Amino acid sequence: MQTQPEIVLSVRNADLGYGTLQVVFDVSLEVKRGELIGLVGGNGSGKSTMLRAVSGMIKPMAGEILFNGQSIAGLKPHQTARLGLAHVPMGRQLFPNLSVKENLLMGAYLPHLRATRDQRLDEVTTLFPDLKKYESSLAGALSGGQQQMVAIGRALMLDPIMLIMDEPSIGLSPLYVKEVMKAIRKVADTGLPVLLVEQNIKQVLQVSDRTYVLENGRLVLEGTAAELEGHPVIRKAYLGL
Ligand SMILES: Nc1ncnc2c1ncn2[C@@H]1O[C@H](COP(=O)(O)OP(=O)(O)O)[C@@H](O)[C@H]1O
Ligand SMILES: [Mg+2]
Repeated sequence: MQTQPEIVLSVRNADLGYGTLQVVFDVSLEVKRGELIGLVGGNGSGKSTMLRAVSGMIKPMAGEILFNGQSIAGLKPHQTARLGLAHVPMGRQLFPNLSVKENLLMGAYLPHLRATRDQRLDEVTTLFPDLKKYESSLAGALSGGQQQMVAIGRALMLDPIMLIMDEPSIGLSPLYVKEVMKAIRKVADTGLPVLLVEQNIKQVLQVSDRTYVLENGRLVLEGTAAELEGHPVIRKAYLGL
């Protein structure tokens, strides 16, 4: 068991963008050990840009990103993955013509994971028994909700220190959205911190420990579900109450 700092991810005063175009302004957020943190906001508010900066797809224009006590701003995605940051990408990005099991094993692609990957597969399919049930099915033949579970399972195969997810509920029917959210909560309950990006604030508030609200590239609110559900701005603009 590695000892980890209490704060697993800390983004400090991040300015983010593409080329010279800045789209995220002075954003700070923290994810502590065992927390499920939501990051919500409308389309184009900068959520994916935040995740891209954390995973290493873009380099911050300014600010600091600390993961597990170490600065990761400017590292490449394969380097942050190596440090234990697992990214569940938007749109799941499975190999449709490979089986569920083969897709899961792809998650343990790093050389140092090869020796333990069968044991890890057992752990992941014990957490999510459906993955075992469907292990021989082609990933492309599954429903959207089942595919999302495979994408989550594949990320867990990395034996990560933290999980970041970009809109796992996108394109899913309400019933599957609920199931996927429940599954994400289950992951967090194993002690693995999760940063969950979603447009669907209602669903996120049901499972998250705390949630940050992003509008036009700026953080406007942060709080627990109870705090945000009671907040007049959230009630009006996001929950339609
Ligand atoms: N590769 C890119 N190049 C230039 N601008 C981008 C790129 N990706 C996203 N943007 C812009 O950055 C802003 C935030 O986008 P994004 O982070 O994808 O928002 P969200 O994920 O919240 O929908 C948007 O205005 C979007 O047009
Ligand atoms: Mg996005």
